[in-house]
Amino acid sequence: MNIRKDYMKKTFNCEISDKNVGENVEVIGWVSKIRNLGGLIFIDLRDRTSIIQLVVNPESEYYNEALNLKNEYVIKASGKVSKRLTPNEKIITGNIEIIVNNLELLNTSNELPIQINDFSNTLEDTRLKYRYLDLRRPALIKNLELRHNITMSIRNYLDKLNFLEIETPILCKSTPEGARDYLVPSRIFNGKFFALPQSPQIYKQLLMVGGIERYFQIAKCFRDEDLRADRQPEFTQVDVEMSFVDEDDVITIGENLIANIFKETKNIDIKLPLLRMKYDDAINKYGSDKPDLRFDLEIKDITKLFLNTESILFKTAIENNHIINAIVAPNLSDKYSRKEIDKLTEFVKTYKAKGLAYIKYEDTFSGSIVKSLKESELETIKNELNLKKNDIVFIVFDTKKVVKTALGALRNKIAKDNNLIDEDTYSLLVVTDFPSFEWSDEENRFMACHHPFTAPKDEDIDKLLNDKENCYSKAYDFVINGYEAGGGSIRIHNEEIQEKMFKALELTDEDIKEKFGFFVDALKYGTPPHGGFALGLDRLTMILSNTTNIRDVIAFPKTASSNDLMSDAPNVVNNEQLKELGIKVGE
Ligand code: AMO
Repeated sequence: MNIRKDYMKKTFNCEISDKNVGENVEVIGWVSKIRNLGGLIFIDLRDRTSIIQLVVNPESEYYNEALNLKNEYVIKASGKVSKRLTPNEKIITGNIEIIVNNLELLNTSNELPIQINDFSNTLEDTRLKYRYLDLRRPALIKNLELRHNITMSIRNYLDKLNFLEIETPILCKSTPEGARDYLVPSRIFNGKFFALPQSPQIYKQLLMVGGIERYFQIAKCFRDEDLRADRQPEFTQVDVEMSFVDEDDVITIGENLIANIFKETKNIDIKLPLLRMKYDDAINKYGSDKPDLRFDLEIKDITKLFLNTESILFKTAIENNHIINAIVAPNLSDKYSRKEIDKLTEFVKTYKAKGLAYIKYEDTFSGSIVKSLKESELETIKNELNLKKNDIVFIVFDTKKVVKTALGALRNKIAKDNNLIDEDTYSLLVVTDFPSFEWSDEENRFMACHHPFTAPKDEDIDKLLNDKENCYSKAYDFVINGYEAGGGSIRIHNEEIQEKMFKALELTDEDIKEKFGFFVDALKYGTPPHGGFALGLDRLTMILSNTTNIRDVIAFPKTASSNDLMSDAPNVVNNEQLKELGIKVGE
């Protein structure tokens, strides 16, 4: 290798330590802070890895040059490593300093529009505008380093298991189902469009048809959907597909891959196999298909206690076929004043619940619905829910969907508001047995719960067209700390079942032919049984970085409204470009 000698000589700050005391070293970086203390000039020099302290003596020929340095100037310095009289335990090089005997200014810097400081309260929008400066923050660099380590760990792990890393196209065909596509107009075929891939799903299945057997890709995906703190319009998946596998094989590879990442990048031991929980159980007990199991607060169905009630509230609920569910917040009754409970009521209303009933238990019962219940009913609730003094019970009655969603969200809120979550632990589980379909009120039809290529359970194949509500699939999700970190399924490898699935999703024969014809055709040529999964690389990195903001682990993220503040994209393009594409922009 012919690498410039000087370049090889550059050490990172973190590589210099006590063991170098007395040696001459050279460092390069940015001036992070400069102090002039009674003659001596102290410079905090920052590079990717750490800060190191430089000292310039008044006798130094570089003294005046040092006096003129400002924050974020780029300098090269060399000098003797010396032990510090007063070590700084906060930085890894805190035991030593460099007594400068050579100083070279490589570049100056304007005054900064943002502070380069992990604790600064500069608005995120301003930091995103100057992301190239924000990236100099140690916390961001650390997150990107972790992301790199995770990616390397994945590549090495899958390579050892003979998976091939294969790239798939970014310019694809737009297909229905899933989120909204990002479209790319074609210049050569005016009026026609490519779509950016929402995931490489179809391609990876075609790779299995193509005989690849074990594939993976660190794949960019694009979805034009409403954003949340854990979503980006372009994000990265660790995409995996395997032939000749069943659900257990795929889940085993997935959980081992995840455990290996935890071990190699954070030295955390994950006990395998992970807990498996059926979708229905997750919804019933935790009101979510991605339950956070770092805390308890299980949802209890108490409908059956009130089948013969005279309480008008519950009686009406039962007559309407609604369910009555409860969460016990243990030893928290005194924390919830009327005002606090009103706030929780507003909170559950955002999940379509009409209200939030509550019962406080001391030696007696009090609360919003106590008067409408008989003493014996209150005693039954107490026994059924095993109430202790100072417990508070929150109750929602409505349709199953509303009750579970509202209490699932309330469960998370109560845990968060009362610090019931141990932030240093990780809860991992695999949610299995997802339904094939979920009802969409917006579309007024059943939609695929995962995607249309997910195989139904063998015993449910006949339900695809006739009993969609009770049709379950071979799909699973990897859940970490209440986040969906990944998902996958065994795929349909039979052309007839695939067509049935498309029909179940109300695609016409024409639609199927036009949108998925090439794919259905491929299934006719000896398609191996196959399945796979995709992990959200950004989400996984976010969880392991202990941040709740996905933008903290992406070098150049989009804002919550899907734009890039730094380059100001999306932007208006000129008429010539539009003309070539045959596009007219409306008013
Ligand atoms: P799915 O849509 O569940 O499955 O995506 C897989 C994982 O990708 C992550 N993810 C996202 N991360 C950030 N921003 C987003 N907008 C976003 N959307 C999804 C999640 C999710 O679990 N092709 C299938 C996988 C398969 O069946 O093999 C797929 O894309 O962590």
